[in-house]
Amino acid sequence: MTVHAIIGGTGLTELDGLVLRETKAIETPYGSPSADIVFGEYAGRDVLFLARHGHPHRIPPHQVNYRANVWALKQAGAQAIVAVNAVGGIHAAMGSGHFCVPHQVIDYSYGREHTFFEGDIDHVTHIDFSFPYDGDLRERLIAALAAQGCAFSSHGVYGCTQGPRLETVAEIARMERDGCDIVGMTGMPEAVLARELDLPYACLALVVNPAAGKSSGVITMSEIEAALVEGIGKARAVLARILA
Ligand code: HPA
Repeated sequence: MTVHAIIGGTGLTELDGLVLRETKAIETPYGSPSADIVFGEYAGRDVLFLARHGHPHRIPPHQVNYRANVWALKQAGAQAIVAVNAVGGIHAAMGSGHFCVPHQVIDYSYGREHTFFEGDIDHVTHIDFSFPYDGDLRERLIAALAAQGCAFSSHGVYGCTQGPRLETVAEIARMERDGCDIVGMTGMPEAVLARELDLPYACLALVVNPAAGKSSGVITMSEIEAALVEGIGKARAVLARILA
């Protein structure tokens, strides 16, 4: 049976319903992950959990040690990763509370440690990343969202920005022209690092605000927090379905 790891983003620093066995501080050649890895049982299956921004939530998106996080999960025995990410909605269908299972990503982030294939290596490696998300995991997320009765899109292009600031209206307009449907700050390099370690990876994105320029006003933390409170319970139920 595949051991799944959940990487919880903003709003998901713990997974209730997780029967805790132990938590372990795992050191990696790339430093420490954002938090201890939680080993547990969820819906009757072995599962690992990691809070991407630390627990409590304190590490901004551009300072997350993505390499240590992915490496530590692999070392802990993860065979697949489901990432949960809060995002802004760009496409008209992506209103607050909507879920999206992206099928593609465009990376606008910069200056992040984004590969394991550098430094003391034997040969230069270029991995294929044509299809960044695992097809089977995506199908399972889509089936779980449908069974749970959530409003969702089964496809979407995730644009990953650097943060921690939100985007300008012009940046979102450019991303829309590029084909982005949702915007977040944590989708990359996490997805590619999982690919480099041969770990199937998929993303469950929860829209928590209309992206810049997609509503009449500015974006407030209170609207984001309200959408998170509302949506994260549903995300937990979806995760329980795919783990079961
Ligand atoms: N932009 C980038 N990241 C985000 C947003 C956004 O509007 N909302 C939640 N994460």
